[in-house]
Amino acid sequence: MSASLARGMLHKMGGSCCPHHAPTTNPFRMAKLHGNNKSTDYAFEMVCSTLRFGKGVTLEIGYDVRNLGAKKTLLITDKNVQNTIAFKNAEQALKMVNIEYEIFDDVLIEPSEKSMQKAIAFAKSKPFDSFIAVGGGSVIDTTKAAALYASNPEADFLDFVGPPFGKSLQPKNPMLPLIAVPTTAGTGSETTAAAIMDLPEHKCKTGIRLRCIKPYLAVVDPLNVMSMPRNVAIYSGFDVLCHALESYTALPYDQRSPRPARPEVRPVYQGSNPISDVWSREALRIIGQYFRRSVFDPSDEEARTEMLKASSFAGIGFGNAGVHLCHGLSYPISSQAKGCVAHDYPQDKNLIPHGLSVMTTAVADFEFTTAACPDRHLVAAQTLGADIPNNADNEYISRTLCDQLRGFMKDFGVPNGLKGMGFEYSDIDHLTEAASHSVPNIVISPKSTDRDIISKLYEKSLTVY
Ligand SMILES: NC(=O)c1ccc[n+]([C@@H]2O[C@H](COP(=O)([O-])OP(=O)(O)OC[C@H]3O[C@@H](n4cnc5c(N)ncnc54)[C@H](O)[C@@H]3O)[C@@H](O)[C@H]2O)c1
Ligand SMILES: [Fe+2]
Repeated sequence: MSASLARGMLHKMGGSCCPHHAPTTNPFRMAKLHGNNKSTDYAFEMVCSTLRFGKGVTLEIGYDVRNLGAKKTLLITDKNVQNTIAFKNAEQALKMVNIEYEIFDDVLIEPSEKSMQKAIAFAKSKPFDSFIAVGGGSVIDTTKAAALYASNPEADFLDFVGPPFGKSLQPKNPMLPLIAVPTTAGTGSETTAAAIMDLPEHKCKTGIRLRCIKPYLAVVDPLNVMSMPRNVAIYSGFDVLCHALESYTALPYDQRSPRPARPEVRPVYQGSNPISDVWSREALRIIGQYFRRSVFDPSDEEARTEMLKASSFAGIGFGNAGVHLCHGLSYPISSQAKGCVAHDYPQDKNLIPHGLSVMTTAVADFEFTTAACPDRHLVAAQTLGADIPNNADNEYISRTLCDQLRGFMKDFGVPNGLKGMGFEYSDIDHLTEAASHSVPNIVISPKSTDRDIISKLYEKSLTVY
């Protein structure tokens, strides 16, 4: 129905008759943003980078940069990825079309504010007009920050960081174009509007979540994940699994409040919605079928290709629906890491890979959330491959899904819960303290939390399987 037709109807009905007798489906009233007392949202929107997928497609990025009319490009990577085929092909692609570029390779794995500031300073030091990230989430997120602050050189770091630590301001200038080439499967950061960093003074990670930081183009090339070592494949795969599960079980967008007063203040993480659901469910199906194969046989091209697809799919899903408890509770775990718990990751700092920290509380979290939306947990378990009847009760659903999660952890032989990573019972207070500033404010969590609940979830995660 056109707006003028609706207005005409309103004139006929609302304008001349008693409002109590006006039909409740009056289209004009339904479309009003402010004129009623509804406090929950009524709309959702999808943000996603243009995504190009294909074996060898990294070799195309020179053309993309040239088509942007770029004069000087900053190519960002980490010291490890710099030796992989992904980086070599990216460089070759730029050389083929004579693009002028410089390299910044000093990305910290699991970046901190400080390490991002280094990249930002480099990005501001010369007139770069385009950015390329070749790496995992650490590289892509660092590049998002470099591009954002280079585009807004006057801004303070915390201006764009989200609450509770930052101001979440809208940048004055749009972000210069960024092409993201993921090398893990993975964070999905190539499709998302988030960049995550550690704030050691708060003993917690946090992030920038602004639609304008989504990459201009995601170049997703299965060749680039063949070199992932075993543990990187496991932990980045756990991240995909939790992105898909958390976004699929998130509070529905139309139960989230407050309703935004203007579209630009609608949060990036909106809650589950019919479009995100499609991507998250498909990611779960792929994980059920290919995750183990992609780890147990690193030369299994089909499995690694599928997991890379699942990573981008889950990125599209969670990038709009959001993540909740596993991610919220993981940020203090990563930040308060006791040592190096993972081979295949840099050993020169205390580091818990993101995917492991996220997976560590997953069993406790989904046990806790099942009762809030059992149907969603049931579909998730079935999509991952469980043979479970549609009329199963909550207890059965929860046990089945959590057994599937334990099964992955056990089969891959990962550290068993917080204790497996060096935490003790006495650390739970510190973890809870850091989490209690942000986790109870996760408005898309299917179940609300408080300090006590958070503490119990950590306690249950001391040993998982
Ligand atoms: N922005 C988002 O939407 C988002 C989502 C999830 C996670 N994250 C963040 O991403 C980071 C984690 O990223 P990640 O899990 O992709 O890993 P990563 O970028 O931290 O890399 C992990 C390790 O794998 C190595 N590596 C990466 N690709 C490789 C390859 N193809 N071959 C050989 N080695 C390779 C790296 O050098 C590094 O040592 C965390 O900081 C996390 O908070 C961001
Ligand atoms: Fe994640």
